[in-house]
Amino acid sequence: MRLADAQVVSTRALLAARENIRAAIEAQAMICIYGQAGHGKSFAVNASLRELAPKLTRRIQFRARPSTRDLRHELFYALGLQGRPPAHAIEFDRMLRGALVEPRVLVCDEAQWLSKLCFEYLRYLWDDTDSALTIVFTGGNGCFEMLLSEPMLESRVYAWQEIGRMPLDEVLDVIPAFHPVWSEADLIALCDQEAAHGNFRAWAKITHHLTVGLQQAGRSRVDEELLRWAYSKLSSRQAA
Ligand SMILES: Nc1ncnc2c1ncn2[C@@H]1O[C@H](COP(=O)(O)OP(=O)(O)OP(=O)(O)O)[C@@H](O)[C@H]1O
Ligand SMILES: [Mg+2]
Repeated sequence: MRLADAQVVSTRALLAARENIRAAIEAQAMICIYGQAGHGKSFAVNASLRELAPKLTRRIQFRARPSTRDLRHELFYALGLQGRPPAHAIEFDRMLRGALVEPRVLVCDEAQWLSKLCFEYLRYLWDDTDSALTIVFTGGNGCFEMLLSEPMLESRVYAWQEIGRMPLDEVLDVIPAFHPVWSEADLIALCDQEAAHGNFRAWAKITHHLTVGLQQAGRSRVDEELLRWAYSKLSSRQAA
């Protein structure tokens, strides 16, 4: 959101994700980090991997339901393979398996878009005895349910982490460190109760509106009126 002066803060979810991912990489395992939109899943995974395995990490992400063909192509580009993608599946599989002999951490973000067949394909690559692959599945609740509904996959997932909303005590702890506009505990508590509800994306958006509002009004301190104006900008669904 290009929010000036915002800091990365060590939420409990971020610290837990880092430990879970560290263990998964050591075990070359599959791990699933799931939860509702805006709770900080992608951020926690990306921040952790920037620290733990920046050189080994490759990302794939989908916005619509991919076929296994799309998935193979996505992997081809994510792994930085040279030349043209092979036309035949057998050849393609051989190439991807060959590339995955190198240790890699594959992040599949928005994994709720993956079909059963795509999950199966990733399992096939991961199961290969020669592969040195860690897979981090991240996504909305659909991702969790899909993995859980497939015993072949469910039994292979080494750790599950749900990232829920931040409770108020944590909000009061981390939000002042997140951005300098948040210095008053009363206003933070009010904002969390009325609008942000422990959702990090909501906090980031409200903070953005607030900084714009402060600038426009030529002020440096937030008060209740400005705060209410800032979160009136969120949709009523979010504010519910
Ligand atoms: N630990 C953190 N420190 C600072 N900012 C954070 C942190 N966690 C999340 N954020 C902010 O919250 C926003 C939303 O987080 P993120 O994109 O990780 O959510 P998500 O759970 O992946 O949501 P979605 O399911 O919609 O993809 C981030 O863009 C970032 O601005
Ligand atoms: Mg995300």
